[in-house]
Amino acid sequence: MEKKRSSFTGKLGFVLAAAGSAVGLGNLWRFPYLAAKYGGGIFLLVYIILAVTFGFSLMVAEIVIGRKTGLSPVGAFAKLNKKFAFIGYLGAIIPMLILPYYSVIGGWVMKYFAAFVSGNGHNAASDTYFDGFITGVGEPIIWFVLFIAITMTVVLLGVEKGIEKVSKIMMPVLVVLSIFVAVYVMFLDGAWAGVVYYIKPDFSNFSIMTVIAAMGQLFYSMSLAMGIMITYGSYMKKDVNIEKSVHHIEIFDTGIAFLAGLMIIPAVFAFHGGEESALGKGPSLMFVTLPKVFDSIWGGQVIGTLFFILVLLAALTSSISLAETVVSVVQDKFKIDRKVTCLIVLGGCLLLGLPSALGYGVLGGVKILGLQFLDLFDFISNSILMPIVAICTCVFIGFVIKPKAIEEEIEISAPFKAKKLFNVVIKYIAPVFLVAILVSSILDVFGVIKI
Ligand code: TRP
Repeated sequence: MEKKRSSFTGKLGFVLAAAGSAVGLGNLWRFPYLAAKYGGGIFLLVYIILAVTFGFSLMVAEIVIGRKTGLSPVGAFAKLNKKFAFIGYLGAIIPMLILPYYSVIGGWVMKYFAAFVSGNGHNAASDTYFDGFITGVGEPIIWFVLFIAITMTVVLLGVEKGIEKVSKIMMPVLVVLSIFVAVYVMFLDGAWAGVVYYIKPDFSNFSIMTVIAAMGQLFYSMSLAMGIMITYGSYMKKDVNIEKSVHHIEIFDTGIAFLAGLMIIPAVFAFHGGEESALGKGPSLMFVTLPKVFDSIWGGQVIGTLFFILVLLAALTSSISLAETVVSVVQDKFKIDRKVTCLIVLGGCLLLGLPSALGYGVLGGVKILGLQFLDLFDFISNSILMPIVAICTCVFIGFVIKPKAIEEEIEISAPFKAKKLFNVVIKYIAPVFLVAILVSSILDVFGVIKI
């Protein structure tokens, strides 16, 4: 007999837990740099359209699979149909690839927090600070190791609950602070052009890359296509309204990403004049831009310190949940002791994360498929594996267990309002569309086509 699963208390508990996993560096660090790079307003528009169609359908599907079976991903797919357990395994690989480079960025956040808390915020705002930090050898490694060590310690000691409690209190503070900073930035000289760039869709900025990037970001930010939501669903009570919960998670997650963009993108225009080279900065964007904002505010040292500690907490709750997933998969599969598993995962992360930590410095010359290590891990997980898992999930639901099975589970608690949309998206639109973008991003990276 399987142990009875503990469950979330009511809808709020579920939404908060799922949102805690969803809101992290994806929203605060990744979304703004992609939006800046891939066309501003048009990226935002494409992202929102994808979120309410694909994101919605996929999240509903995953939560339902979890709640229906009461099992974690591998078991859940196997229970519904033995032949499809592989989707669970495939999804489980993704967090293993994300966690290492997630921790590298987490390390960057710690470094900036340390700079502000020790009164060095002004230096951190200088043009050369980020490059000086990232091209070194010792520092990127030290901060990365510290971040992953904290993450694994929490997982090993099983004290996630404590962190989650703290972060639930801090999250509203982060939102309020972000609104304050965003409004402040809006009034900086030259920032308005950035607000327009970010909010007004300019169709001449559209390219297939806009869609590919937005899709990858959607999976990443909402923790989709890697079994996480299946696990969360398995803890959900039968009387909780799934459709509504998904709406709430999406609004929350997208809202925070939107705010982060509103802080960062107009600031790029205010401090760098919105040149393409500044907008296309990529992973470093948040770190080169925000310290300048804080440096220009009265009391910016305190605000910067507060901001980076909040981002750090959001990053930690996500990295802990990522690590937790990896540990439980490895532990279940190989039936080994939890302590040993944690050590193995830690070792694996250090190994995979080191190239990403050094990818901007000593390993700067090494490129695979034209990508730096960090971008490579990001690309493999978000642009290749996640679409594959998503396609498999859609086909599995659309043609193996059939959407009816999903509807029935949802209607245990409430009528399924978006039933038609769900059906069409899962069976036809999503698979066709996902195959198209998967193929084009693979062809692009291998240089067959240029998009
Ligand atoms: N969604 C998280 C973020 O936006 C990152 C993430 C991806 C994640 N997959 C996850 C977090 C799995 C926890 C579990 O930062």
